[in-house]
Amino acid sequence: MAHEHDHEEVPAFALELPDFEYLRYEVKDNVALVTFTRPKALNALAADVLTEIAEVTEVIADDPEVKVAVFTGEGKAFVAGADIAEINALKDVFVGREYSLGGQEVMNHIASLPVPTIAAINGYALGGGLELALACDLRVAARGAKLGLPEVGLGLIPGFGGTQRLPRLIGAGRAMDLILTGRHVPAEEALQLGIVNRVADDALAAAIELAGQIKKNSPVALALAKEAVARGSDVPLPEALEIEADLFGMACTTHDMREGTKAFLEKRAPEFKGE
Ligand code: CAA
Repeated sequence: MAHEHDHEEVPAFALELPDFEYLRYEVKDNVALVTFTRPKALNALAADVLTEIAEVTEVIADDPEVKVAVFTGEGKAFVAGADIAEINALKDVFVGREYSLGGQEVMNHIASLPVPTIAAINGYALGGGLELALACDLRVAARGAKLGLPEVGLGLIPGFGGTQRLPRLIGAGRAMDLILTGRHVPAEEALQLGIVNRVADDALAAAIELAGQIKKNSPVALALAKEAVARGSDVPLPEALEIEADLFGMACTTHDMREGTKAFLEKRAPEFKGE
């Protein structure tokens, strides 16, 4: 008798995916799509959800098919923040600090992915939800989406990177407005403030379109460009320029640089290999 799992045999090159409960992972046309799938709780970041996000970043980093990753949410929220019931149980300085460091680490996993990342903000992106979007390289918001850091209204402060990534993105003065008022900023205002890169009727469709513009480029150049911006933003300008020159030098050793420049000179489209 044939074994009931015989037909499920997977090819050797297929990735083994962890069993996700709170998110869905798909790859189509070299774009990874991570969808948060707990709409009843507005995709709030409970500890188990954070664990799955850390796992999915590893899957993305290990998947050679993926050239761009997009994060979005099911229902009326992108992510409405960290899980407030779990935060209510944080009783002393040590567990509170560990909780914050743990969440920051998950956001750092997203920020340090080698592939460009886009948050498709379909609805509420509040607290930890906005912090997750800030850990992405680009943000596209749906008309009607609301963004904010409402933590001070809970007697808290943003703890998954918001007090640091938002001022680095839009300046301390404008970040203070959001952090101290805790107000919900509409998508159009978020665009004016520089928090999001695009506003669209359909955030996911716009994010996929943006991913399409990015993925034509050399994957190795994209990773080096991301690294230059990320490492350069935290150091004084002379050092930052050294970093740029080092990474430019590395780009010059790649197949993709030879191919991209040669293709231009030969008036044809380049064929990048990502090496
Ligand atoms: N944590 C836990 N549960 C949450 C949640 C959160 N962050 N956000 C929403 N929910 C739950 C609600 O409790 C509700 O559950 P029940 O159906 O079991 O009652 C369900 O999701 C639906 O939410 P609402 O009924 O509140 O929906 P609404 O449309 O009336 O309001 C909202 C939407 C304005 C986004 C409102 O849900 C809200 O204000 N949520 C909290 C936003 C927030 O404060 N986020 C920051 C969290 S703290 C943080 O993130 C700290 C950090 O930096 C790490």
